Amino acid sequence: MTHKVTLLPGDGIGPEVMQEATKVLECLRDEFGCAVEWEDAAVGGGAYDIFDDPLPAATLELAKSSDAVLLGAVGGPDWDDLPRAKRPESGLLRLRSELDLFANLRPAILFPELADASALKSELVAGLDLMIVRELTGGIYFGQPRGVEQRDNERVGFNTLIYRESEIERIGRAAFEVARRRSKRLCSVDKANVLESTQLWRDVMLEVARDYPDVELTHLYVDNAAMQLIREPKQFDVIVTTNMFGDILSDAAAMLTGSIGMLPSASLDANNKGMYEPIHGSAPDIAGRNMANPLAMIQSVAMMLRYSMAQARLSDAVEAAVAKVLQNGLRTADIHTEPHTRVGTAEMGDAVVAALRSAA
Ligand code: IPM
Ligand code: MG
Repeated sequence: MTHKVTLLPGDGIGPEVMQEATKVLECLRDEFGCAVEWEDAAVGGGAYDIFDDPLPAATLELAKSSDAVLLGAVGGPDWDDLPRAKRPESGLLRLRSELDLFANLRPAILFPELADASALKSELVAGLDLMIVRELTGGIYFGQPRGVEQRDNERVGFNTLIYRESEIERIGRAAFEVARRRSKRLCSVDKANVLESTQLWRDVMLEVARDYPDVELTHLYVDNAAMQLIREPKQFDVIVTTNMFGDILSDAAAMLTGSIGMLPSASLDANNKGMYEPIHGSAPDIAGRNMANPLAMIQSVAMMLRYSMAQARLSDAVEAAVAKVLQNGLRTADIHTEPHTRVGTAEMGDAVVAALRSAA
């Protein structure tokens, strides 16, 4: 069976990093006999410019009919002033929602070679390997009612933080499954001291925990979790949290590793169909200058191989190739320190492919 992948390069540095991911896919197909085929489609600001829609119907159809989606990045200053529904970010949120990608896996792994790049002392972060499991299709991002209205002679802005039991349960189960495959420790992050919806979150996590007696469940309030992430990040293994808390904590966790340019993510539905994207944004300031780090995008390919294609061996090979180029001293601008060799986006991608090929 051939795996069908939809490629959504998107905006800013998205197309450049996707170009390097495509080289990796070609190598997997041609040298490793991986049965994979792919097709490009438009998303984000570029799609809006052509189709007046950041998620054109044809793109959604293609994504729905494929086994996995690789996404570069969306957004940029050109589209910031559009009405909300036309913004590139809305295309991304609709894609997550339409594909029912409720489980967002965001690993934060520090490569030993990059310990210096972290803003924290290297002993605090050396060997860091944690996974944030973020609920992705519910909570305040999607809750109704929402809006800005005129009330009593002034404008009022409002959003709704709402979670159904079934939504909490399914992300809970996904997180316990992840924890079971790692060190069997799961920390659920909420604000149960203030918010009823997250009191329910905590209650349901405790109920789900009964089915996973081998996993140790702990709870933290989100403010404390933010502090603990910076104070002693290695105390965590798997964190499960709501959509918005996960958005915030995953950026903090990413920074612990020194470069957001290194980190991939997976967004999965109940059947492990997934969308894979680097967690960095579209970085319009460096777009088109062969400066972007393609390693997060390439590691997103590795996650796709593991979670949606059941190709753990190939996933390991791609991850080993990334580790190899770092060991060989190659660095893009974002992770560059002396005396290492500074390379551009394309050179970095070529080096990964060369390392991968030599393992074929
Ligand atoms: C992320 C991003 C998105 C989010 C934006 C671009 C809508 O910050 O994937 O973390 O808030 O989910
Ligand atoms: Mg974010």
